[in-house]
Amino acid sequence: MTDFSIRPIKESDKESWLKLWEGYLVFYESTLDDKVTETTFARFFDETEPVYAVVAEATDGNLIGFVTWVTHRSTWAITDYIYLHDLFVAPDSRLHGVGRKLIEYVYGVGNETEADRVYWHTQVHNHRAQLLYTKVGKRDGFVVYRWPES
Ligand SMILES: CC(C)(COP(=O)(O)OP(=O)(O)OC[C@H]1O[C@@H](n2cnc3c(N)ncnc32)[C@H](O)[C@@H]1OP(=O)(O)O)[C@@H](O)C(=O)NCCC(=O)NCCS
Repeated sequence: MTDFSIRPIKESDKESWLKLWEGYLVFYESTLDDKVTETTFARFFDETEPVYAVVAEATDGNLIGFVTWVTHRSTWAITDYIYLHDLFVAPDSRLHGVGRKLIEYVYGVGNETEADRVYWHTQVHNHRAQLLYTKVGKRDGFVVYRWPES
């Protein structure tokens, strides 16, 4: 794999980002209405929306990963929490530190904005991701519930 850098997403990244996003949805065996994907992409560039994304770009110009996050208020802190929403690295670019660098970028945003914390969820059986997460974060022991079920 060639070297890479992490940078804010641009509107001109749409086509490349959509390919990664599709890979991410396949990983989760999920589908999303195109309208949701379009809205999410548009929100990355809307200063009134607390929805953000950066991409990992290889030196050859290909996008090889992305991370998204949202910020929100908390009743337990004065400053916002950052919820790391989506993290994906293209299969042939994994195990080269891209995932770690994407997470660390969000930590940098947390420092700059004086966020109270960065936190995220993962599926219990996603051991591969947890091999990275145990190195960069602390497991907090909370269990996630949702409603409605689907
Ligand atoms: C999870 C994911 C983002 C990780 O991306 P990545 O670029 O491969 O991760 P990195 O290379 O930065 O980190 C891998 C870390 O895990 C460790 N690791 C990987 N396999 C390991 C193994 N078998 N045993 C021990 N450690 C292992 C590496 O040592 C590395 O740690 P280091 O930074 O200290 O060297 C990527 O696998 C992915 O996109 N998976 C599919 C989507 C997904 O699961 N997203 C997360 C949803 S919560």
